Amino acid sequence: MCKVEEREAILETVSAALAKFEAKRENLIPLLQEVQGQLGYLPPAAMAQIAAYLGVPAVEVYGPATFYNDFRLHPPGEHQIKVCMGTACYMIGGQIALDSFERRLGIKVGKTTPDRKFSLDQVACVGCCALAPVVVVDNYVEGRVTPTRVDGIILSFAEGNDKGKEKKGT
Ligand code: FES
Repeated sequence: MCKVEEREAILETVSAALAKFEAKRENLIPLLQEVQGQLGYLPPAAMAQIAAYLGVPAVEVYGPATFYNDFRLHPPGEHQIKVCMGTACYMIGGQIALDSFERRLGIKVGKTTPDRKFSLDQVACVGCCALAPVVVVDNYVEGRVTPTRVDGIILSFAEGNDKGKEKKGT
């Protein structure tokens, strides 16, 4: 898809999302969530369109979009790595796991690798505290993630060898 087509597709998606909400400032966060849910991230064109719809300066849309970790400003990678930083995981090595993924992927949390293969995020408790520290890759749960397992996890998804893993919530 070329840049123009991509932009048109974004604007079309945002228009459909806007149609679900009244043009009230208090709808900003739900609108951002809706658009991110549709696009996977919040491109600048989408935020500008939301600002125009709500009749607020663009900075009022960029503010929460950049402040909250849940919002993504870049397209997600083919595989999304989410490191749990809930209390149980944090206490038992979540930060160490996150640092390891950052080092191995060469990106900071909230970013996507240049080849768009992986994106890395931190999330709150995913409900598998007994397996702490937990990492969710796409919908697969990886428990007791130590730095020595990080390479193997990345490789298994890089090579598409992710069949048979335990899916989150199953
Ligand atoms: S704190 Fe990580 S799964 Fe609950």
